[in-house]
Amino acid sequence: MQQEAVLATEGPVLVLAGAGSGKTRVLTERIAHLIAGNGVSPHHILAFTFTNKAAQEMRERLDRSIPGTSGALWVGTFHKTGVWILRRHGSLIGIPAAFSIYDAADSLAAVKSILAHHGLEGAVLKSVHALRETISRWKSDLISPELAHERASDNMDKKIVLVYEEYEKALRRAKALDFDDLISRVVELFSAHPGVRDEYARRFRYVLVDEFQDTNPIQMMMIDALSSHTRNLFVVGDDDQSIYGWRGAKVEHILNFQTLYPGTKVIRLEQNYRSTKTILAAANELISCNRGRTGKNLWTDGPAGEKVKLLVSADEENDAPPGGRSAFPGIFAPRHRDSVPDQRTIALPRRGVQAGRHAVPDHRFRAVL
Ligand SMILES: Nc1ncnc2c1ncn2[C@@H]1O[C@H](COP(=O)(O)OP(=O)(O)O)[C@@H](O)[C@H]1O
Ligand SMILES: [Mg+2]
Repeated sequence: MQQEAVLATEGPVLVLAGAGSGKTRVLTERIAHLIAGNGVSPHHILAFTFTNKAAQEMRERLDRSIPGTSGALWVGTFHKTGVWILRRHGSLIGIPAAFSIYDAADSLAAVKSILAHHGLEGAVLKSVHALRETISRWKSDLISPELAHERASDNMDKKIVLVYEEYEKALRRAKALDFDDLISRVVELFSAHPGVRDEYARRFRYVLVDEFQDTNPIQMMMIDALSSHTRNLFVVGDDDQSIYGWRGAKVEHILNFQTLYPGTKVIRLEQNYRSTKTILAAANELISCNRGRTGKNLWTDGPAGEKVKLLVSADEENDAPPGGRSAFPGIFAPRHRDSVPDQRTIALPRRGVQAGRHAVPDHRFRAVL
């Protein structure tokens, strides 16, 4: 199955796979195959990863199999790709070529100082973090301050919109873009200047996306635009691993991919190369509870391994088991106030070692393998 995913190079391909089934490996092998097997120039390949670290690992893996490729290839996060495009073409939509970038801390500080300046501390019933999240969500859903203003139904909403307006002004004054702008302004650029979009889309004949389940709508628009010329769009994801629902990630992107891109080839990878049989049985049981999934059954050729233990803990941060949570080989389920395990936060061990826990606010179970 992995081989099929590597070799199906043309047209839209959706690889659905569980954790540890070799998704990232397939994506990397596929790039190697495009270059070494099909003679595609690395210049025509664009790969999206979720972190800079993942991009770096992919480059290293590629350079090991085909020395010298990674320099010509574009592998990076959505943000990094956005910076690159906007530095080259952002001036077409009024972005200064030498724009600076507000990171998360800068954005938060900007919101804080706006609250202070307008005497709004305590007036909006949201923490600075929550306020910043709201603004970010609006931006990634392409809701302008004007639109947010129209939708504001009461005084409280209006105050929040005022903070949003002031925040946008502050960014402009500082000639800065925040993380959301790095993606949304690319989408704006492409819709205002289809010729520029086509220039990129013609260059990137092969577009690949890792961790596709975590993309938000605006990132999806960017992927769609960049792959619009050839539609050789290859995405790998796990609908049972979507943990960024709270950041606007849409598991529907996986569920609707085939409708969006007719003729999509769907490939499932269900063999796991990382965990024991017992752990996978527990994972299958857990993820079978998720709604809105395409269904999969993870399996392995590996040994049965030890039994999975369940740890219920009162306090996720302070009530670690002896030796620390990372030493606990089992499912970790922090107990909620009413002493029922809070099933929103649950994690399975990676090879018998606790891999860390992840909050899953939208009640999706995530098997971290
Ligand atoms: N066909 C295979 N044979 C042996 N090991 C594999 C195979 N595919 C993947 N692996 C190993 O399994 C682990 C998980 O692979 P990775 O690509 O990171 O999975 P995913 O991205 O799906 O979580 C890695 O250590 C990888 O080298
Ligand atoms: Mg991976």
